[in-house]
Amino acid sequence: MGVSTFQQREWETAAIAKIKADFNRSADTHLIPLALPGYPDIDVYFKDESSHPTGSLKHRLARSLFLYALANGWLREGAPIIEASSGSTAVSEAYFARLLGLPFIAVMPSTTSPEKIAAIEFQGGRCHLIGRARDLYGASQQLARDTGGHFMDQFTYAERATDWRANNNIAESIFRQMALEPHPVPEWIVCSPGTGGTATTLGRYVRYCGYPTRILCADPEISVLFDYYRSELAGAPDSTMVLEEGSRIEGIGRPRVEPSFIAGCVDAMVKVPDALSLAAMRYVSGSLGRRVGGSTGTQFVGVLLAVQRMHEEGRAGSVVTILCDSGDRYAHSYYEPQWYVRHGIDIESAEAQWARMLCGERPSDLPAVGMH
Ligand SMILES: Cc1ncc(COP(=O)(O)O)c(C=O)c1O
Repeated sequence: MGVSTFQQREWETAAIAKIKADFNRSADTHLIPLALPGYPDIDVYFKDESSHPTGSLKHRLARSLFLYALANGWLREGAPIIEASSGSTAVSEAYFARLLGLPFIAVMPSTTSPEKIAAIEFQGGRCHLIGRARDLYGASQQLARDTGGHFMDQFTYAERATDWRANNNIAESIFRQMALEPHPVPEWIVCSPGTGGTATTLGRYVRYCGYPTRILCADPEISVLFDYYRSELAGAPDSTMVLEEGSRIEGIGRPRVEPSFIAGCVDAMVKVPDALSLAAMRYVSGSLGRRVGGSTGTQFVGVLLAVQRMHEEGRAGSVVTILCDSGDRYAHSYYEPQWYVRHGIDIESAEAQWARMLCGERPSDLPAVGMH
């Protein structure tokens, strides 16, 4: 992008000040307890990231990416911001682009929910839909060249744009809100990787602060990240894996190994079939009395595995996970019966399996590594 002129420096300073003022107007997100019947000694909490102004955990990432890009002198007055996003990041980046008066274009799979497209457009962004998830990068780079814009590239920069040591990142916020709980230091924090940025921030923070908390990542069905992690554990990392299809659980799971997914920050992983993720999503929605997104279900399967193990070992403690976004964004997908028929997902069988798991059944079909 070249070197900033004096005039550009003035614009960058004003832009950073606008983002700081926006942050100053914001409140922290809630930490919500949820009692799991049958496990009275283990406290489960949701970090409710749906309560950000743009409705998901990506609000934090978008703020960090804009600040990082501005501090690097990568943004120019009037030049568009381009992002490859399955939706949530684009909604949040569109918000910050509008705050700075910059055009915003989201490049995303044509399978993205109409609610997310509407949310991006509501924030003033434009959507550029493409057929194959794996073409997102190339299309974004091309669009940035064609428009003289900046490709934000969350999948490369998510892990480095966030202040992992503190500055009210998601990890510091969780530990602060846990301070007065019966078990203030969680045994596990369970998340799901999209960019991997959240897992990386959590993993670095617990190490830096010396907490024994372990980070469990729940990967959805259509994703290479679990297999990549296993290859890392086996000492033969294979980052060349690719899939043709994109994940059906929006926001998480990747068709290729992203630079922002830092396996060393993750202590354990589980691979969750989509049907089970969605059964868990429906359970969490019923328990909290409001709809949650699919990725919250994927993570909650990981939570139950962690809780089952703690229970079997007779240990009391706490487990924290993330309510990434609201189910209102998925009214025409996960909350529409026909969607399950279209995708060949037998949700009734999955709900029956989930009910057995809640009663203590250990699933035989869930590959997990690093949980002992
Ligand atoms: C709804 C949702 N959940 C979870 C994630 C994963 O977060 P991260 O990109 O930090 O790995 C994303 C990422 O886009 C998301 O949109």
